[in-house]
Amino acid sequence: MSINFKDYVASVPDFPEVGVTFRDISPLMSDGEAYAAATDEIVAYAKDRGVEMIVGPEARGFIVGCPVAYKLGVGFAPARKKGKLPRPTVSASYGLEYGQSTLYMHKDAVKPGQRVLVTDDLLATGGTIAATIKMVEELGGIVVGTAFLIELNDLNGREKIKDYDIFKLMDY
Ligand code: PRP
Ligand code: HPA
Repeated sequence: MSINFKDYVASVPDFPEVGVTFRDISPLMSDGEAYAAATDEIVAYAKDRGVEMIVGPEARGFIVGCPVAYKLGVGFAPARKKGKLPRPTVSASYGLEYGQSTLYMHKDAVKPGQRVLVTDDLLATGGTIAATIKMVEELGGIVVGTAFLIELNDLNGREKIKDYDIFKLMDY
């Protein structure tokens, strides 16, 4: 029986501010069968694209990307927020739906020529994923795809990653 993933997303009105409907993936993550099914779909996509490494931005990109990496038998590298990574880093700044931020990756996180899938829970304005892709490419990685649980169509994030393939399980 196939799973309707939207049954596992809680839509919360007026969070974090009035007028925004927040799509909360925690019900999906807390259901073992739904989490595994979502993971398996991204694993199948990653296999098709010959993925050798997963990169995900803090924090929810880890929740999506780590089980995919485990199942594929490839590594995972985090893109982290300020002050978290102890060794030399590259960085990329971006505008968020709710402000401005910078992400960092260790300089040896991705090997030159490695085929990378970038994962996150949700594509909104696209700033987070575009910044993550920029760092992967600065390190010499080849971004062969991006994978999300959710795409928010109205925010048009895919415009920021026009040159990249996008896999998503749901959209709103
Ligand atoms: C959220 C979400 C994505 C990003 C999407 O993360 O998990 O990473 O925003 O927005 P964008 O497409 O407009 O960049 P957030 O920055 O809130 O961090 P968190 O996962 O640590 O809560
Ligand atoms: N839900 C979850 N995370 C988000 C959202 C949202 O609607 N927008 C930006 N990050």
